[in-house]
Amino acid sequence: MDVAVVGAGRVGTAVAVALRTAGHDIVAVSGGAATPARAARHLPGVPVLASVQAGRSASVVIVAVPDDALGAVIGEVAAGGGFREGGWAVHVSGAAGLAALDPAAAAGAHRLAVHPLQTFPTVEDAVQRLRGAAMAVTSDDPEGEAFGLSLARDMGGVPFRLDDAARPLYHAAAVFSSNYLVTVSAIAADLFAIAGVPDPAAAMAALQRATLENIERLGPAAALTGPAVRGDITTIDRNLTALRSARPDTVAPYVALCRVALQLGVDAGRLAPGDATALSEVLDAWT
Ligand SMILES: NC(=O)c1ccc[n+]([C@@H]2O[C@H](COP(=O)([O-])OP(=O)(O)OC[C@H]3O[C@@H](n4cnc5c(N)ncnc54)[C@H](OP(=O)(O)O)[C@@H]3O)[C@@H](O)[C@H]2O)c1
Repeated sequence: MDVAVVGAGRVGTAVAVALRTAGHDIVAVSGGAATPARAARHLPGVPVLASVQAGRSASVVIVAVPDDALGAVIGEVAAGGGFREGGWAVHVSGAAGLAALDPAAAAGAHRLAVHPLQTFPTVEDAVQRLRGAAMAVTSDDPEGEAFGLSLARDMGGVPFRLDDAARPLYHAAAVFSSNYLVTVSAIAADLFAIAGVPDPAAAMAALQRATLENIERLGPAAALTGPAVRGDITTIDRNLTALRSARPDTVAPYVALCRVALQLGVDAGRLAPGDATALSEVLDAWT
C-alpha cells in the first residue's frame, strides 16, 4: 500500500519506519524545517514534499502534526486535493475525533483515527516503543475497522476498537496515566530537594519503579499504601502543615489526591467509610 505521512515528527517518523518495515511503500513525507534532516536519517530515500503534494501521492495519508495544527493542516491538504476518493485519511491524535477528518471525507476519503497509547519524547523512543503499544482504532464502519486494525498491527501495535464519542475521555485517562504521573513526580522531586535529599531523581527511582510494578501486579486498589488508606489523620495533617510552609501551591493537589485515595481505600474495603469521612472533614479545613 502507498502511504504518505503529513508531519513526520516523532510519531509520524516512527509510524513511517514501522510501515516501511512491514512492507508498505512510504511515497512521501512532509513537515516543517526540521523534517528533512529527520527523514534523511530515519527514512532514507523518502521524498520530503509539501503537505498537499505528499497527500496527492498516496492512497493512505497519515496526518501526524501537533494537535493544535490538525484542523488547519487537514483543511489545507483537502483544499489542495491531497485526499483521494476512496483513499484513507488517518490521524494519530488521542483527543481528536473523526470529525477532524471531515474535510478529507468531503473529498471522498474514509476517516480513520489510530492512536498509539504510548509516550514518545524523541523520535528514537517512538521508533522503539511503537512496537507493542496499545493502539486505539476509531472508524466509521466495519470496512474502516478492519483496515484500521490491520494498519495498527502493521505499525507494530496491539489494536483495540474505541468509540468516537469516547475519545476525549479515553485521552483524559491517558493524561492521568502518563502526563500527570510526570507532573506529580516533578512535585515530589522538588519537595525531596527542599527536604535535603541529595539526588531526588535517583532516590525516587526505586520507589516509583516498585509502585508501577505493584499497580501492574496487584491493581491500584491493592497497591495503594500510605496515610490515606491507613486513615492516618496525624500524618496527613503533618504533611499538609509542612507543604503550606515549604510549597503552599502543593496543598491543593495533595488534598485533591488524598480525597481520591480515601475513596479508593473505601471502595477496596480497606478503609472504613466512617474513618474516610472523618479524614475528609480534616481535609475540608485545608480547602
Ligand atoms: N509524542 C507523543 O508522545 C504522542 C503519543 C501519541 C500520539 N501522539 C500524537 O501524534 C501527533 C504528532 O505528535 P508528535 O509528538 O509526533 O509531534 P512532533 O514531534 O512535534 O511532530 C510534528 C510534525 O509535524 C510537523 N508540523 C508541525 N506543524 C506543522 C504544520 N503547521 N504543517 C505541517 N507540518 C507541521 C513538524 O515539522 P517540524 O518538526 O519540521 O517542525 C513535525 O514533522 C499528535 O496528534 C499527537 O497527539 C503523540
